[in-house]
Amino acid sequence: MNQQPWWQKGVIYQIYPRSFLDTTHNGIGDLKGIIRKLDYLKTLGIGGVWLCPIFPSPMYDFGYDTSDYYDIEPLFGSMETFEELLLKAREKKIRILLDLALNHSSHLHPWFVESSSSRNDPKADWYIWADPRPLKRPPNNWKSVFGGPAWTWSEQRKQFYLHSFLPEQPDLNWRNPEVKKQTFKILHFWLEKGVDGFRLDVVDFYLKDEKLRSNPLRLGRRPYEMQKHIYDKNRPENIEIMKETRALLDHYPEKMALGEVAERNTKIAASYYGPENNGLHLNFNFNFLEQPWKAAAFQKAIEEWENLLGPENWPVYTLSNHDVPRHFSRYGNCLGRARVAATLLLTLRGTPVLYYGEEIGMPQGKIPRSRILDPVGKRYWPFHPGRDGSRTPIQWTGDRNSGFTPSNPWLPVNHDYKRVNLAAQKKDPNSLFHFYRGLINFRNNSMALQRGEIQFLDLKNPQILAFKRQDPVESLLIILNFSSRKQPVVLPSEFSGAKLVFSWKKDNIEMQKNQLKLPPSGLGIFRE
Ligand code: GLC
Repeated sequence: MNQQPWWQKGVIYQIYPRSFLDTTHNGIGDLKGIIRKLDYLKTLGIGGVWLCPIFPSPMYDFGYDTSDYYDIEPLFGSMETFEELLLKAREKKIRILLDLALNHSSHLHPWFVESSSSRNDPKADWYIWADPRPLKRPPNNWKSVFGGPAWTWSEQRKQFYLHSFLPEQPDLNWRNPEVKKQTFKILHFWLEKGVDGFRLDVVDFYLKDEKLRSNPLRLGRRPYEMQKHIYDKNRPENIEIMKETRALLDHYPEKMALGEVAERNTKIAASYYGPENNGLHLNFNFNFLEQPWKAAAFQKAIEEWENLLGPENWPVYTLSNHDVPRHFSRYGNCLGRARVAATLLLTLRGTPVLYYGEEIGMPQGKIPRSRILDPVGKRYWPFHPGRDGSRTPIQWTGDRNSGFTPSNPWLPVNHDYKRVNLAAQKKDPNSLFHFYRGLINFRNNSMALQRGEIQFLDLKNPQILAFKRQDPVESLLIILNFSSRKQPVVLPSEFSGAKLVFSWKKDNIEMQKNQLKLPPSGLGIFRE
C-alpha cells in the first residue's frame, strides 16, 4: 500500500469555474456544472480539483477580490450546492481545493468599508494605511503589479491605502494579530466544512516592510520590473505565517496548502516550504512554466528545483494556468509537443497540476478588443492582451458555443471548437484526450511515478530528455524527443532488456536491444 498523502499521489486539475459548464443559462459556468462533470474528471483519473475563487465578489479581478469569505458567489450557486459538490466529489474520491485570496480583500468587503470610515475605527489598522509624503505624494515608491502606484488616496481618512494589485483589492495588514486571527478563522471554517485544502493566492505578498521603505531601483522593461521588490514582498518574517498555516492544516489529516509564490527567484520560491519542511506543503515553481521548448532548459529548471527542495520537500509542477498563455499555444499549437509536455508533467517527481482543457489541446483564445474583460488587458492592450485568452469556455462538443452554454458565453468560445472538442476526441482513440487519460491511468498505477526518486541521464543527444524514476518496487525510464525529427537513442545498459510500457499508440518505436529510434515528438516509458 502506498501511504503517501493524496496530494502527492494524485493529479490535480484546475478549474476556472466561470468557463466550465453553465447550467443556469446566463453564459457563466457554475457549481452545478462542475457537479455534472465530476464523472468526466473521474474518467480522466483526477485526484483533486482546484477551484478558482467561488466566493462573493464584485469581480473586478474575477473573484480574486473577495467581499465575503464565508459564502458562495450567487453567480456560481449557493452554499447548499457547494456542499452537494463536496459530497459528490468525496463519493468519487475527488478532493476539493479552494482558492483563497487573503493578501487582499475586495474594497467592498465590510472590513475595508469600516477600515476606510475613520482612523479611529476598531478596524482602522486592518489594512495598510499611511500618510502622504509632501505634496500629497504616495508614502513610498511601491508599484501595483497591475500598473500604476500601489497606493490610492482615501478622502475619508485623508491617507493612502496599499494595494499590490487593483485599487479594488486593498492589501490586508497581516502584521495586525486580529487580521491573522480572522484569516485563520476562514481556513478553519472551510476545513470544518470538509474541503481538502487550499490554493493560497500570492502568499509572497502577505507581509510588507514595517517601515514601508521604498524599494531600490534597477533596470527593467515595465515600471514594476524597475524595482527590486525587497520591501513590498517576500519579507523574511513571512515564512513564520507559512509555518503557522502549515501547523493549522496539519491538525487535520491529509489537508494541504498549495502556495502561489509568483516568484522567478527559485531560492525564494523554495523558501516557502519552510526551513524544516514546515512551511506550505506545496509551492508553485513558475520558473518551470516559463521554459522554452528545449530539453536542456527543462532539465536545468527541474534539477535546480530538485536541488533546492531536497528529498524531504515535495515539488509541484504546472504548465498552464489562468494567468499565463496556455502552453499548447506557447509551444506552437503542436499536438506532438503537447503529448511530450504532458508526459513530462505527469512523470516528474512531484504533483502535476493540469489546467482545464489542456487534455484536449485547447489553444490560447484570441479575444477581440471589444470583448476584453481582464483588467490587465483593458489597461495594457495592445501591449499586453490580458489574461482572458487562457480563460475561454471549455470545448465540450461541436455544438453551439461548444456545449458550454445555450446563451451568450461571458468570453468568446475559441473558433476551433468544432474541430477541437472533447466529444470528438472521445471517439478517436488516438486523440490527445485518450493520451492524457492513458497516461494519468498509468501514473495512478505506478509506484515509481508516484513516489520514486528522479535522476536525469545524459543520452548524448541534446534533443532528448531522459530520466529515471525509481522506487524499491519499480524502475522506469522516461525518454522524450523534443525535436520534430526522428532521433536515435541508445538506452543505458541496465535498460537493455527494458520493456516499452507506455507511448503514443501511433508512434511505432523501433527497438533493437538497447537501440531505438524515437519518432518526431516521440516518447516512451520503459520498465527495467
Ligand atoms: C494571483 C491570481 C491572479 C490574480 C492575482 C491577484 O496571481 O492567480 O489571477 O489576479 O493573484 O489576486
